[in-house]
Amino acid sequence: MVFMRPLISTLLLASSALAHPLTSRAALPTCVQTTSNGFTHPGIYHSCASLNRIQSQISAGLSPFTDALTSVISKCNFLKSSTWSMSGPYAEVIWAGDDGHNIPLQTDGKAAYIMTLGWYATGNTTWLDRSLTVIRAWSTTLNYLNEQIQGGEGMAYMTAAAEILRASPASGWTSTDTANYLGMFERIRAQPWTDSDGLSGADFFMNQGAYGNSAVMALAVFAEDAELYNTMVHQATVGDHPDITLDYAISIQISAKPDYYGQVTEMGRDQGHPMGTLRAVSYMGLTALIQGKIGGVQTNFFTHNNTRLIAGWEYWATYNGGEDVPWEERVIRPGSGEVWTVVSETSRGSDYNNGKSPVEAIGVGYHQYFRMGLARSMPKYTAYLGDLGLGFDTFEFGDPKSVAALGL
Ligand SMILES: *[C@@H]1O[C@H](CO)[C@@H](O)[C@H](O)[C@H]1NC(C)=O
Ligand SMILES: *[C@@H]1O[C@H](CO)[C@@H](O)[C@H](O)[C@H]1NC(C)=O
Repeated sequence: MVFMRPLISTLLLASSALAHPLTSRAALPTCVQTTSNGFTHPGIYHSCASLNRIQSQISAGLSPFTDALTSVISKCNFLKSSTWSMSGPYAEVIWAGDDGHNIPLQTDGKAAYIMTLGWYATGNTTWLDRSLTVIRAWSTTLNYLNEQIQGGEGMAYMTAAAEILRASPASGWTSTDTANYLGMFERIRAQPWTDSDGLSGADFFMNQGAYGNSAVMALAVFAEDAELYNTMVHQATVGDHPDITLDYAISIQISAKPDYYGQVTEMGRDQGHPMGTLRAVSYMGLTALIQGKIGGVQTNFFTHNNTRLIAGWEYWATYNGGEDVPWEERVIRPGSGEVWTVVSETSRGSDYNNGKSPVEAIGVGYHQYFRMGLARSMPKYTAYLGDLGLGFDTFEFGDPKSVAALGL
């Protein structure tokens, strides 16, 4: 007979005086899970459970996670400098070739997200204050958003940060903050959000659809808009692009043909852009896992089409890890004369842990699939991540087993 140790003693031990130096002496933030209009909050990329996993690993001082966070801090002024200031806000974000303020939105959105997770993990209120400053400034200033790429990515991360702060009583987030954020959403969607306007279109060019639509999916969760949410889920998984050669959807962008299984179309262009799609779609998939059934519809991005997404990650990692892959020629925009006859060498094998921003780390798919028991389906992806070493993804998504399996 097995005697169960009372759970309470384990919990007390985990939260006792073992705090890591990264962790402030003040009480750590807590998370309150709620359900409203069918939506679970917090529920953009992270649930209370995943936030608390991150926090407990850091406060317990588990070295892969604290080392990963320490290395992220060393790369980010907004985490280490006493004199950081944000890039925005701006009233209008557009594509202007150079910078229609889309880059400031991207930069600030990513910073707010990283600082919010950093605060939740450690209790560092400097990061909390900065994140609130970013979100409050943009949400009371932005009136017009018509740039789906950097603007979409920035808006997605900023909204994920707002969702976490709203669910954490210690953040100081107020009902006015919520009203202001929703007001911003109403203003930016007042523009014609159809076709290629706005961020919700089905007809963007490959990775651009993933960025724009992921922002709208996040906003739909924050605002509890089931119809908009389900439209984004459909576009990201089944696809709805009028020109199927340009669709980023899992079912279409990633090949199911046995001889080319997992081929990611945009790898005929370069290696960075298709990675953006795989990453963004995986983040969207985490949201969908938390949300479950919305408006009677439920889609699991990770198992969709016989785990097609993992095939895309694995194919991408095989080529980027230095091996050859079979390539089926791709005609882009039939009639335009654009044909991708070979897989592109451009940006092959990049170091995503030391790229432009820590959130560009590429473990988001790996850690989820590992927890689903599918490690054997992704040996090349596993090897690639092991070579990259500790990154923001270790901190954000790793658990002791998934990280140990990378040899880190
Ligand atoms: C919190 O972040 C600030 C700003 O970068 C830093 O100066 C401070 O040392 C951090 N506090 C802790 C406890 O790490
Ligand atoms: C992929 O999934 C979609 C939506 O569930 C389905 O309609 C389609 O038949 C699937 N395709 C393949 C090749 O499995």
